[in-house]
Amino acid sequence: MPQASLTPAPAAVPRHIAIIMDGNGRWARQRSRPRTFGHAEGVEALRRTVEAAGDLGVGYLTVFGFSTENWRRPIEEVNALFDLLRLYVARDLDRLAREGVRVRVIGDRENLQSDILEIISRAETRTRGNDKLNLTIAFNYGGQDEIARAARRAAEDVKAGKIAPAEINPESFGRYLDTAELPPPDILVRTSGELRLSNFMLWQAAYTELVFVDKLWPDFDKAALEEAIEMYRKRERRYGGTDSGS
Ligand code: IPE
Ligand code: IPE
Ligand code: MG
Repeated sequence: MPQASLTPAPAAVPRHIAIIMDGNGRWARQRSRPRTFGHAEGVEALRRTVEAAGDLGVGYLTVFGFSTENWRRPIEEVNALFDLLRLYVARDLDRLAREGVRVRVIGDRENLQSDILEIISRAETRTRGNDKLNLTIAFNYGGQDEIARAARRAAEDVKAGKIAPAEINPESFGRYLDTAELPPPDILVRTSGELRLSNFMLWQAAYTELVFVDKLWPDFDKAALEEAIEMYRKRERRYGGTDSGS
């Protein structure tokens, strides 16, 4: 009698898609325009992708908007990226809220300007009751920073006697991460042909299927998302077990 497989074929639609939106600068350079022009166009690609994810029935979409290392960029570019977050929330929050999107922001909140903190809190509070699509924006986010902050909070709980050191394991530790409310990503897409994680979701991507596409982020659209999902569907997820035929 065939045994139930421990490694089922991937679901038709991944539950959680994470995206490293990369290539805005190169897209702008190809057009002899400033990098910030590429970032603005990247927001259009984000709009298309959020809509496509909703249409396709994806439950969770997590996008990398600004890394803890992106502070190394010229201050004008950093400011432009923060302005785009302001603009995105100002222009899209009403529609997102109406369409059933729940917005979350992950990353380090320390040292963010107070108006940015207010914008984040407004977006999260306003959409708290939604559950059609969970849109998480990683902003001032770094995987190592997230793990270190989580470790710090776990250590504080140990010190306060709330948990014992022996109670710290992958499951309990996961609850200290920024992503405590999210399932791990099934698929992580990086655009622009770069083959690295650049500090994105280091903990959560343990068994995520990685999909690298050459398209630059401002060119990303529903068809590109569908292609990435198609690649994912051809994968066999083993989670450390054997293949499903043995
Ligand atoms: C991704 O595009 C957007 C952010 C990092 C915020 P880049 O700005 O990294 O574009 P490239 O990689 O220089 O082309
Ligand atoms: C990762 O892209 C960060 C975001 C997409 C927000 P980068 O362009 O900053 O990564 P590196 O520098 O090429 O590794
Ligand atoms: Mg880049």
